[in-house]
Amino acid sequence: MALVNEHFLKLQSSYLFSDIAKRVNTFKVTHPKEKIIRLGIGDVTQPLAPAVVEAMRGAVEEMGRRETFRGYGPEQGYDFLIEAILKNDYASRGIRLEPSEIFISDGAKSDTGNIGELLRWDNSMAITDPVYPVYVDSNIMCGRSGERGENGQWSNVTYLPCTAENGFIPEPPAHRVDLIYLCYPNNPTGTTLTRAQLKKWVDYALANDTLLIFDAAYEAYIRDADVPHSIYEIRGAKRVAIEIRSYSKTAGFTGLRCGYTVVPKEVTAATLSGERVALNPLWSRRQCTKFNGTSYITQRAAEAIYTPEGKRQVKATIDYYLENARIMREGLKAAGLTVYGGVNAPYLWLRAPGGLSSWRFFDRLLYEAHVVGTPGAGFGPSGEGYLRLTAFGDRDETAEAIRRIRAWMGVY
Ligand code: MLT
Repeated sequence: MALVNEHFLKLQSSYLFSDIAKRVNTFKVTHPKEKIIRLGIGDVTQPLAPAVVEAMRGAVEEMGRRETFRGYGPEQGYDFLIEAILKNDYASRGIRLEPSEIFISDGAKSDTGNIGELLRWDNSMAITDPVYPVYVDSNIMCGRSGERGENGQWSNVTYLPCTAENGFIPEPPAHRVDLIYLCYPNNPTGTTLTRAQLKKWVDYALANDTLLIFDAAYEAYIRDADVPHSIYEIRGAKRVAIEIRSYSKTAGFTGLRCGYTVVPKEVTAATLSGERVALNPLWSRRQCTKFNGTSYITQRAAEAIYTPEGKRQVKATIDYYLENARIMREGLKAAGLTVYGGVNAPYLWLRAPGGLSSWRFFDRLLYEAHVVGTPGAGFGPSGEGYLRLTAFGDRDETAEAIRRIRAWMGVY
């Protein structure tokens, strides 16, 4: 008899975005004539950049010819993409990394979910709250989160509340923890950290021997010079931080799947006897065993983002989403809603009006305005009373969604 990993039984029965999809489907069945506008899951709507499509066509042609066909690629990724990353994402910001510190993957979700495999199950951990659910769920799966309390919090997780009072930017924990997940620009609140604010976290990690998992999936949305794109812009971060990047929101790869993780050689964790072990070779070993690399065609597509025309095209799409964010923010604020985020970030964080709970606000917008958001409570206890909207919609639909929400508020 096989014994089940009982930690899985502690998970909520379905993943947040699957739960929302089910509720939306129920609405569609009972209201087949209504046109829903989806600003819930952060999925992009604009097509791939022409430079990306062209690169994929070329790669498909190569794969179709005997002389240029490629089978298994390197598990860590092809050199051509790694070199483009080093040059464009890091050297351009004065950050020196080695090719063997970059690991190409099929996206940030897999890497944020899998990286914890390198660490013992009983490390203590902290998360900002609300938070991207993958950080908590993946730790529940291996038993690291402990037990769920009546207040919905996990016993071995330190929650760092992000509230209107602290501008959704918490201080590092008052005590030491082994592991902290950070995501900036933040999903779900759409807030960002300045250089000085991010430095506080790196200094905490250096002082407390803490490992930071820094999810930079939304860095392409940063426009302000004082907001760092990479945690390695902060001195000392290479000793304490793993950075995870994604092309999903940068270049519309949500369906194509590609991202990468940086594991600097200096980042270590300890054995029980106190010996320091570099995590870079362990992650490489893990990838070789469990991952056969991102497809050649996809990596050529990602490489094209770094060409002059690719950069221009991708920036135009990000500008489009940032303009959506501006239209949303201004329209919703003018209707009397309290709105955060949406600057240097593709997410807006709305205070539910009239003291509605997150899920009640979600339901009312779905049933009365036919607009789908994501209830803040789904991202953690401190998300209660909020709703997240994404700026990844089509422009006309986004404008129509804002018009509908304003009408729902009684503002025309
Ligand atoms: C989100 O909506 O939070 C993201 O799109 C989910 C993801 O990237 O996995």
